[in-house]
Amino acid sequence: MRWLLRKRNGAPVNRFGDKWKLGLLECSRTVVTSCRAVLLPRFGGPEVLDLRDNVKVPDLKSNEVLVRARAVSVNPLDTRMRSGYGRSLFEPLLPLILGRDISGEVAALGGSVRSFSVGQEVFGALHPTAVRGTYTDYAVLAEDELTSKPASISHVEASAIPFAALTAWRALRSTARIKKGQRVLVVGGGGAVGFSAIQLAVAAGCHVSTTCGGESVDRLLAAGAEQAVDYTTENYEVAIKGYFDAVLDTIGVPETERIGINLLKRGGHYMTLQVHKRSYSILFSSLSLLLIMVQSFCPVCYRGRLHP
Ligand SMILES: NC(=O)c1ccc[n+]([C@@H]2O[C@H](COP(=O)([O-])OP(=O)(O)OC[C@H]3O[C@@H](n4cnc5c(N)ncnc54)[C@H](OP(=O)(O)O)[C@@H]3O)[C@@H](O)[C@H]2O)c1
Repeated sequence: MRWLLRKRNGAPVNRFGDKWKLGLLECSRTVVTSCRAVLLPRFGGPEVLDLRDNVKVPDLKSNEVLVRARAVSVNPLDTRMRSGYGRSLFEPLLPLILGRDISGEVAALGGSVRSFSVGQEVFGALHPTAVRGTYTDYAVLAEDELTSKPASISHVEASAIPFAALTAWRALRSTARIKKGQRVLVVGGGGAVGFSAIQLAVAAGCHVSTTCGGESVDRLLAAGAEQAVDYTTENYEVAIKGYFDAVLDTIGVPETERIGINLLKRGGHYMTLQVHKRSYSILFSSLSLLLIMVQSFCPVCYRGRLHP
């Protein structure tokens, strides 16, 4: 890591002492110009990932925040992008830095950022198509891609939440517009997106049923699901009764798709996360909502009700 100490009126700026005297607008004058990062120079298996020193850190735009990473997470999107998903879009932009989620501390602020201060603990997620991701010591995120990290959760826990929870939020709140009293089915509630979806739907006052592996049953019932059916031992087509206002299918195989659609009420929403599906995919739709949602789901998290 290398620090650039810029001059103020010709005099060198003290690396730490002057930072506090200068105030928020001046903080970005002490800038990290390079750091370690895991680069993706070509598509392939995990072996293509390349840890390098002295990777350039871009200058901050006025709405951007430099975050010193304490924890990042690996999402299915990262592994798919590493393998070549979105090749036509990303190949001309190689080498990429993968990673969407981050939890860490604010290291510097763009000139118009008002929500954060240097040293504050934050977490958040980058836009799905960002080419400079979070697998780096210093990541750059827009102000509205971040929020304050609650002291009640660790950096590791916080970094596991944003992208999965935002995906669940997008499906349930923005697409299905779930309301208090409605019935929601989460197929695959034991995974990152499914577990977030259960907690968000319960927090919205919905009646939640889910399917999961046997080891996940107690955890999902404790999170507020009213019924958790073990798909490895039970026929959930028989076990789940009635019809649902929203079905979030995190598995998306033909069988779960058929059952999920059959369990819909008239006018209900079936949503799948399988990106190869033509019409149901929500992953890349309405990307701007992703940014808004970082802020939106956090009140649930602050109340200690959203767990990674
Ligand atoms: N994570 C993200 O940020 C994100 C964002 C956008 C889209 N997605 C997509 O969403 C999907 C799910 O991702 P995820 O991160 O939630 O996956 P995950 O954490 O790996 O969870 C998948 C879970 O599905 C359960 N499962 C497997 N087969 C099942 C079946 N037949 N019926 C019911 N449950 C089954 C397993 O639960 P048990 O352990 O209970 O058996 C497993 O833990 C993937 O297609 C992914 O690409 C993920």
